Amino acid sequence: MSRIAGTGRYLPARVLTNHDLERMVDTSDAWIVERTGIRERRIAADGEHTSDMAAAAAREALASAGLSARDLDLILVATVTPDMPLPATAMFVQQKIGARNDCPGFDLSAACAGFIYGLAVADQFVRGGAARHVLVVGVELLSRVLDWTDRSTCVLFGDGAGAVVVSPALGDGRGILSTTLYADGSLAPALCIPAGGSVEPATAATVAARRHFVRMEGSQIFKFAVRALAQATRTAIERAGVTPEEIEHVVPHQANLRILAAVAERCGIPWERFHLNIDRYGNTSSASVPIALDEAMREGRIRPGALVAMCALGGGIAWGGAVVRM
Ligand code: UT7
Repeated sequence: MSRIAGTGRYLPARVLTNHDLERMVDTSDAWIVERTGIRERRIAADGEHTSDMAAAAAREALASAGLSARDLDLILVATVTPDMPLPATAMFVQQKIGARNDCPGFDLSAACAGFIYGLAVADQFVRGGAARHVLVVGVELLSRVLDWTDRSTCVLFGDGAGAVVVSPALGDGRGILSTTLYADGSLAPALCIPAGGSVEPATAATVAARRHFVRMEGSQIFKFAVRALAQATRTAIERAGVTPEEIEHVVPHQANLRILAAVAERCGIPWERFHLNIDRYGNTSSASVPIALDEAMREGRIRPGALVAMCALGGGIAWGGAVVRM
C-alpha cells in the first residue's frame, strides 16, 4: 500500500474579486455567488509560470513529508496549462526543485480530474515497487487561457498549485485505500480549448476568433457532474471497504457549490464533512483537491489517521474518486 506522506500548496498573491469582474464583463457578484459559490480567485503575476507555482507547492509537500527533492523517484504534473506544449512541465519542475536525473517526470492531462488521475498513477508506481517517493502536483495557470470577455467562463476559474508526496505505507493502516477513474470522451466538446493543437494549429485566424481560450457548455457538464461525482465517490468508498458513514471528510473538486451539495445528498454524507474553499479560489482545476487537502491538514481540520474521500470531474469528461486514510 502507498500513503500520502506530505502535502503543500501555492496560491498567487493577487486577488480578483467578483466586484472587480463586474467592471470587466456583464456580470454581478450576486449571480456568481448564487450560481457557483465563488467570491474571489487568485491570479498569477506576470512572469510567474506554471512550473514556478508547481515547484513552490512541491517544496512545501517535500518539507511536510520530511524529504528532499533528491529523494524523489518520479514527478507527475497534472495540468492543462503547461509552461509550453513541449517539453513537459515536469522537466521544469525537476530543475527548479533540484531532483535527480534518474527521477523521471511527465505531465498528465486529465483537466480537473488530473490530481485524482495522478494519485492513482503514483499509487500504482509505489505499490508495484517501481518508485518509493512520487511527487504529484496539480497546477493550473488558467488566467492565461481564459477569454476575459466571456462571462460564462472567466468568472469561474483561478490559478494555483497543490502537491502531495506519495510514499510506501508504514503498516499502520494509513494509506491510499482506493482510487476510481472514469472517462467519457463523447462529451469532449463541452469543455475544451479548440485551437493550438493538431486539429486547429495556431494561425492569425484562430487567434482572432479567440479559439485558444477555454470554452465550456456549463449546464451540460453540471448535470453530468452531479451523477458522475456521486457514483465515483460511492464506488471509491465501496472499494475501500468502508461505508459512507465512516467517511469523516470529503475533499472535492471545487467547481460549483450546488454540484457538491447534490453530491453530498446522493452519497449520504453530511454537508459539514465537505471541505470547501471555492469562495476564495474559484475553480483551480487539477489544483483544487490538493490545495483543499493541504489547507485542511495544516489547519488541523483533517488529522492524521482520518478517513478522507476525494472526488473530481472535468474536461474530457474525465472523473474519479479516492479514499485515503491520512
Ligand atoms: O471544473 C470543470 C467542470 N466544470 C463544471 O463542473 C462546471 C459545471 N457547470 C456549472 O457550474 C454551471 O453550469 C455554471 C456556473 C457554469 C452556469 O450556471 P447555470 O445555472 O448552469 O447557468 P446557465 O449556463 O444555464 O446560464 C443561466 C443564465 C444565462 O442567461 P439566460 O440565457 O438564462 O438569459 C446566461 O447567459 O445566466 C447567464 N450567465 C451569466 N449571468 C451573469 C452566464 N454567465 C453569467 C455571468 N453573469 N457570469
